[in-house]
Amino acid sequence: MGGFPGRDVLSIADFSRKDIEAVLKTAKKMVPVARGERANRTLEGRILATLFYEPSTRTRLSFESAMKRLGGSVIGFYGTEGTSVMKGETLADTVRMVESYSDAIVLRHPQEGAARLAAEFTDRPVINAGDGAGQHPTQTLLDLYTIWDERGGIDGAKIALVGDLKYGRTVHSLTYALCEFDVELTFVAPAGLQMPKEVVEHARAHGLPLAMTEDLSKVVKDLDVLYVTRIQKERFPDPQEYAKVAGVYRVDAGLLRDARKSLVVMHPLPRVDEVAPEVDATAHARYFEQAFNGVPVRMALLSMILGGSA
Ligand code: CP
Repeated sequence: MGGFPGRDVLSIADFSRKDIEAVLKTAKKMVPVARGERANRTLEGRILATLFYEPSTRTRLSFESAMKRLGGSVIGFYGTEGTSVMKGETLADTVRMVESYSDAIVLRHPQEGAARLAAEFTDRPVINAGDGAGQHPTQTLLDLYTIWDERGGIDGAKIALVGDLKYGRTVHSLTYALCEFDVELTFVAPAGLQMPKEVVEHARAHGLPLAMTEDLSKVVKDLDVLYVTRIQKERFPDPQEYAKVAGVYRVDAGLLRDARKSLVVMHPLPRVDEVAPEVDATAHARYFEQAFNGVPVRMALLSMILGGSA
């Protein structure tokens, strides 16, 4: 898939390395605009629709911030209460309606594949803001930006992904994207929550050095990036299965004692108890900067898709 104007963002697997690097470089230029230090009104008059069928803080607000910083405006709903979804309106019909009110549609939905389905019913660009346990491609772009900006590049990084790798859409998307780079990966998860087979096979097919373990303490000292994720209670069909693995990993000062000084700890957030608050004050913590990076990265994407400029 080439070119950005009018493009859907459904899966990070649709993005080549060249595409990813184009977004990261544009995002870098957007940082002063994202901070309110430079004006950019190149999306003035354009309307972004944000349809959130599931809860969100960062993704929704950073998309809103990004669009408004670029002079555009935002409509949408956050939770289906008060919308015609409650009367039984289908996703297809909702999208058909919203396309006549907006220039692009951001969709978060509990069902895997929902964004791809939505894109079949509209000519407007659809941006997947998380589809169940599927993908979260814009999160991946901001994750890649954080690593790239921190290290001056992504190649050569030793990266561990930790936590709920089975249901975690952020780690699925991130693994697909990292296959475009020269990195070493370790998947750390309890039995039953390891990375889905198709994602592992994709990484292996791309020749990535790949290890899988349950023991986080053994891998920390050799890492450049520790990417921690929440065990997602809401994705477990059986609450007893959740109870068995809740709290299994906790990143704290003790765990990081033997880590490289340059190790960065990332987390897509929200966290529950998997990163101790004491880590926030260490030189390793990057999760709040990572969350901020969602604004320039989403500005870059919106600008490239809707015809703005950096
Ligand atoms: N990282 C992320 O998707 O956060 P929200 O669920 O708050 O949007």
